[in-house]
Amino acid sequence: MKALIYHGPGERTWESAPDPSIIDPTDAIVRIDTSTICGTDLHILKGDLPEVKPGTILGHEAVGTVVEIGAGVTTIAVGDRVLVSCISSCGRCRFCKEGKYGLCSGGGGWIFGYMIDGLQAEYARVPFADTSVYKVPEGLGDEQVLFLADILPTAYEVGVLSGRVEPGDTVAIVGAGPIGLAAIMTAKLHTPSRIVAIDLADARLEKALEFGADLTINNGNEDAVAKVMELTGGLGADVAIEAVGVPDTFELCTELIRPGGRVANVGVHGKCVALHREKLWIRDVTITMGLVDARTTPQLLKLIESGRLDPTPFATHHFALGETEKAYDTFSAAAETHALKVVLQAVPVENGKAHRSDELTRIPPLLPA
Ligand SMILES: NC(=O)c1ccc[n+]([C@@H]2O[C@H](COP(=O)([O-])OP(=O)(O)OC[C@H]3O[C@@H](n4cnc5c(N)ncnc54)[C@H](O)[C@@H]3O)[C@@H](O)[C@H]2O)c1
Ligand SMILES: [Zn+2]
Ligand SMILES: [Zn+2]
Repeated sequence: MKALIYHGPGERTWESAPDPSIIDPTDAIVRIDTSTICGTDLHILKGDLPEVKPGTILGHEAVGTVVEIGAGVTTIAVGDRVLVSCISSCGRCRFCKEGKYGLCSGGGGWIFGYMIDGLQAEYARVPFADTSVYKVPEGLGDEQVLFLADILPTAYEVGVLSGRVEPGDTVAIVGAGPIGLAAIMTAKLHTPSRIVAIDLADARLEKALEFGADLTINNGNEDAVAKVMELTGGLGADVAIEAVGVPDTFELCTELIRPGGRVANVGVHGKCVALHREKLWIRDVTITMGLVDARTTPQLLKLIESGRLDPTPFATHHFALGETEKAYDTFSAAAETHALKVVLQAVPVENGKAHRSDELTRIPPLLPA
């Protein structure tokens, strides 16, 4: 098969790799029909996650078709279309039993494209298939469910739910990349009175309005704290969601929050971040952080199925799976290309067998089977 292989900082190529095979009886082999690239893949390529070994296939988000199952897999069958999430669950450890799949200590958690070979490939080995993949409801296309593999549950769980967004709240979302936009989309499920998007890039702020923000602040040329105070009668936002991952934006969240408010940190921080307890201690501010568990995936899937949630506007660019290198170029130059999520597509299945993605240059979106 072909796959996108990480060869150390700055180095990645679409090249031949051994076909994956069943190792544990709880594994399934999935043919990847649709995949995508995450900002975290770019962090890996920058060398920010040195624990990723050169030779690893990248990618942790995909929709595919089961082509083989291990002897211990009982709820998934060959031919099933499944969403493969960024988080796997062993289903047996104490954390999985509490629904904290991101913390799985039985070999799951975030493993794809990190600890084991990932999903930017023609085929992938999927451990703990019974407890980790989600069957795609009939009638839904790959692109409708693909973003459930990471950005939607991440923004919803680590941002909206941890921040306890309630009806009537003023929610400030700092960072309007895919995660911040997904936080806007899913915060609306809780009917806040106002969503304020804050970013340095005007193009991203325009997107924020399209995704449902009520107003925007460019903190490069406006005083975001003063503006939020003005909007809220001098109190501050009820909830602030940090969706960037740098010290400045975390501090901004702690400055624009009201007394008793909630700061939900979603961003992955690579540097030490100051926590001004000398100012915060008396204000009863709750601060949360964490890795996504993907425990809300079934819930979000129901909303997509019923037409109440439509994540397809995230898909700004489409490529054939064989063009994954080009897709990386487009995705990593988001400031110029305005990419949000790039969709990587294998060819539609014909007679139960997919054509090789390198046979084609450009293909139309996959239709639901
Ligand atoms: N906690 C989790 O489980 C989890 C999962 C996935 C991603 N993440 C993290 O979420 C964060 C956001 O991801 P993304 O894919 O949307 O990233 P992104 O880089 O695409 O978007 C970040 C946005 O922040 C804006 N920005 C940068 N500096 C800013 C500043 N000083 N003030 C205001 N805005 C600023 C950028 O213009 C951009 O629009 C990343 O740190 C990512 O690693 C966390
Ligand atoms: Zn990701
Ligand atoms: Zn577990």
